[in-house]
Amino acid sequence: MTMFAGINGFEYASKDEIAAKQLERMKWSLKHAYDNVAFNKQAFDEKGVHPDDLQSLADLAKFPFTVKQDLRDNYPFGLFAVPTDKLSRIHASSGTTGKPTVVGYTAQDIDVWAEVFARSIRAAGGRPGDMVHVAYGYGLFTGGLGAHYGAERLGCTVVPASGGATDSQIQLIMDFKPRIIMVTPSYMLALADAFDKKGIDPRTTSLEIGLHGAEPWTEEMRKEIERRFDIKAVDIYGLSEIMGPGVGSEFAETQDGLTIWEDLFYPEIINPETGEVLPDGEEGELVFTSLCKEAFPIIRYRTRDLTRLLPGSLSHMRRMARIFGRSDDMMIIRGVNVFPTQIEEIICRDERLTPHYFCEIRRPKVMDELTVVAEARPEFSDDHSRSHIADELKKNIKNLCGVTTKIDIREPGGIPRSAGKAKRVIDYRNLAGK
Ligand code: DLL
Repeated sequence: MTMFAGINGFEYASKDEIAAKQLERMKWSLKHAYDNVAFNKQAFDEKGVHPDDLQSLADLAKFPFTVKQDLRDNYPFGLFAVPTDKLSRIHASSGTTGKPTVVGYTAQDIDVWAEVFARSIRAAGGRPGDMVHVAYGYGLFTGGLGAHYGAERLGCTVVPASGGATDSQIQLIMDFKPRIIMVTPSYMLALADAFDKKGIDPRTTSLEIGLHGAEPWTEEMRKEIERRFDIKAVDIYGLSEIMGPGVGSEFAETQDGLTIWEDLFYPEIINPETGEVLPDGEEGELVFTSLCKEAFPIIRYRTRDLTRLLPGSLSHMRRMARIFGRSDDMMIIRGVNVFPTQIEEIICRDERLTPHYFCEIRRPKVMDELTVVAEARPEFSDDHSRSHIADELKKNIKNLCGVTTKIDIREPGGIPRSAGKAKRVIDYRNLAGK
């Protein structure tokens, strides 16, 4: 435990202290992976690198990447560095195709995760004694249990509501009066609608802080959540391959992007086409190396998340800009690249629309066709208003994203709400028979 002691408060360490800790841990992590995971040994050997070649943090660029397919190829436990009897827990993400990706944690890993998540809650303004309503899903998904252990570690009272059963969420919030809620941004907005439907103004609840993540969301969506609930909404990021939620988190005071807890997870930005490391400030694919994990060390994991690294603000640890999309979420419509978050921004700015939406891609003949499906607010739900809104939305999307779309404005409630991550793109080109 000594190597990982003192996580609490280290977010305020000096630049030099952080760099020293990173180098020490990176050396340990590379060696740990090389000595205990056959996949890593083989990959390092093939590239002609050895953990001893790492003398500075920049030397990391010599080491090979790990990609999602490597996890699938080594399903279920092939990338673990400890035998299964040393594991304390397993999580997995279902993924859209093929086998789930499986990750494991020793007791120490769970401990480190709880510490770093507690750091995220503190950054968001949470304090010991706060009641925390966790509406991330519990189970193989890392959201629920990750948040739960972090909140307990900070000394909060946890309400493990999990996702779904919206009526019961409302009742628990009204009766227990939590100060903090943790939930995906899309489900947070579904909860707002559910409060409205019951005739309860969500601004009157006890909630003061929301920690939202697990899916891309925009500044516009943040404003909407803050307006509807009268809370401070902060961004929290993570992925199961690296740990789970709490890899990076936003400070409530500044709300200026996610501070990466880089004493434990080392970030790089690369050009997704060439793999070349890009300087801080440039946009590209986020890559992480775990500096602390025993059960599942991961070296230069390509997340497919697109963002850029920024200098630290409240902490000397670097920040990253809001993730504007995943490379696999990018829609290429007749040669134009469009991310769902660009569409979301435009929709959220239109006061006649709810923030719920999704995109459909079809190829009726040879050309791809993008349909944006959005939902009118009750005051604008008549046919005439909806057709008017559709014309304007089409124009705005064309102007701002450069792509011609079809628009389907549904009546209020016409877009299904998800209790976890919202599905923003349905690609019918990949679905047989459509
Ligand atoms: O979604 C972990 C998590 C749970 C994060 C709860 C935050 C809150 P996975 O299911 O492995 O893990 O999915 C990871 O979700 O690579 C991103 O594409 C996306 N993602 C997660 N947080 C954010 C965020 C959890 N704040 C994938 N902004 C990641 C944008 C996010 N995308």
